[in-house]
Amino acid sequence: HTARLLGVPLDLGANRRGVDMGPSAIRYADIAAELDAAGVGCVDDGDLEVPRLETSSSAPNVDKSDAASNAKYLDEIGDVTATLADAVATTIDDGATPLVLGGDHAIAMGSMFGAGRHTDDGIGVIWFDAHGDYNTPATSPSGNVHGMPLAAAHGRGSFADLDWTETDAVNEENTVLVGIRSLDEEEQTALRESEVTVFTMREIDERGITAVVEDALEIATDGVDGIHVSLDLDWLDPTVVPGVGTPVRGGVDYREAHAALELVAERDREADILRSMDVVEVNPILDRDNQTAEVAAELAASAFGKRIL
Ligand code: ARG
Ligand code: MN
Ligand code: MN
Ligand code: MN
Repeated sequence: HTARLLGVPLDLGANRRGVDMGPSAIRYADIAAELDAAGVGCVDDGDLEVPRLETSSSAPNVDKSDAASNAKYLDEIGDVTATLADAVATTIDDGATPLVLGGDHAIAMGSMFGAGRHTDDGIGVIWFDAHGDYNTPATSPSGNVHGMPLAAAHGRGSFADLDWTETDAVNEENTVLVGIRSLDEEEQTALRESEVTVFTMREIDERGITAVVEDALEIATDGVDGIHVSLDLDWLDPTVVPGVGTPVRGGVDYREAHAALELVAERDREADILRSMDVVEVNPILDRDNQTAEVAAELAASAFGKRIL
């Protein structure tokens, strides 16, 4: 693979500032050298143009009385999504693998829409996260779009009506959540009624990370043209990654995370399944010594094939 880095310094989908600095922090953690160590060529395309809170005149634009519009900055995030989807699709057409650096998790919509283009059978998704990110504007308790991208990719709720969503190619039955430990009430219902497979932390405790991720790969790759891997750094335990905006106790440790992403790389070596990846929710303001960004860079390298021997 050749990795193409696409930075998306978006924080309008999150509940606090800081993740807009994620792409810089991950580059500072020398992701290029990490990928080089993985034997992966790396081209840095720089950052996408993203509206910033400092210079934006727009309000969050939430109408609490109208459930369908309970999504902050949705217009701006829609523009970013469309631009990123184009960049991701072009990257894949060029024969490279997009490695999208966030930014908050709302950017995964653009990653998935772009990765799904020009496929015959669509894509699967493995979502490593503490959260399900399966709210819609109607169910979200916070109105933060970073809690909604996966539901948007499946065309749920009012997302189906928006002109910038491209929901046909992200297969619900090939979508797998791994390491989940925080779901809002209506989010639970939506997931239970969906075709999504949810592996909570409990399954990892019971069966071990290797068995769970093997299953996830089996489900996600079944009958598709490839998979998108979305890595929210809050998947890991907050003791390992202090620099995330929505930490939840009881996450995977450093070794489990590497093992998981090494399995992705191994499957990719066998069957060329990795179509795109994003690494999101690194918040340097809350971090200590850029530790979280370093973990992000190291885990991306594992996913792209870095081996010890
Ligand atoms: N479920 C909560 C919400 O919808 C938290 C979402 C956190 N998402 C994330 N990508 N960190 O607001
Ligand atoms: Mn999360
Ligand atoms: Mn997330
Ligand atoms: Mn491959």
